[in-house]
Amino acid sequence: MAGIQVEALHAWYGRDLILKQVDLVFPGKAITAVIGPSGCGKSTLLRCLNRMHELVPGARVAGRVVLNETDIYHYGVNPVEIRRRVGMVFQNPNIFPTMTIFQNVGVGLALAGRQRYRHRQLETRVVKSLQQVGLWEEVKDRLHRTATGLSAGQLQRLCIARTLAVEPEVLLMDEPCSALDPIAAIRIEELMRELKASYTIILVTHNMQQAARVADFTAFISRGELIEYGSTPEVFLRPRDLRTERYITGTGG
Ligand SMILES: Nc1ncnc2c1ncn2[C@@H]1O[C@H](COP(=O)(O)OP(=O)(O)O)[C@@H](O)[C@H]1O
Ligand SMILES: [Mg+2]
Repeated sequence: MAGIQVEALHAWYGRDLILKQVDLVFPGKAITAVIGPSGCGKSTLLRCLNRMHELVPGARVAGRVVLNETDIYHYGVNPVEIRRRVGMVFQNPNIFPTMTIFQNVGVGLALAGRQRYRHRQLETRVVKSLQQVGLWEEVKDRLHRTATGLSAGQLQRLCIARTLAVEPEVLLMDEPCSALDPIAAIRIEELMRELKASYTIILVTHNMQQAARVADFTAFISRGELIEYGSTPEVFLRPRDLRTERYITGTGG
């Protein structure tokens, strides 16, 4: 099945067990929201899906994560290739201030590419990625200037373009709108809806309206455990667990 399947996932930092026996499916061509109180393990879960968790000294993972038929923790799988296939977008747009807009989008290709991209190829990918995020018209006349001067929303779309440029299968978005004004946030939500036709999207958000608006499926995590998972209307309108209900209605978690 396309997408990501997570089986009996456990994650530790040193001796602290952070994720406990998480079983979950993130279907392809759909948006799944991951919600839960601060510190419950949402970001840790995302980092287990692209093998970034193990980069933290002392961190450990157990269980299985299957990405479009690749068992990503299987012996012999190259974590660098997994990180290309599973892209990540963070809360604060992480642009390189001294690089141009063009270089900011193309940098992932340079880092991920085993082969060297010829200039023409690089240009095609950069333009396509900027078009995908709806930024091309806004920046095409200033591609070779730095990204300073772009708004926060534009910078976030630039970061999404950079992630798309290496042709991932999955987009992990960790609170991508938390630093944006409501108009820019809505723009990112529209973009997510467009992109889900081609990608598996996993969205961590603290904004319940946003989850309800864009997510097809919702997973609620509390203290490292998956408490509830279902279609977004199911989870929001008929939560089965009292903890889910309390969290989404804001009456204590
Ligand atoms: N690099 C780290 N080293 C040690 N503990 C960490 C690290 N990152 C996160 N944690 C701990 O893991 C738990 C889950 O964190 P996190 O996944 O960031 O939660 P969330 O994204 O839901 O707010 C928290 O208790 C946090 O303090
Ligand atoms: Mg987090």
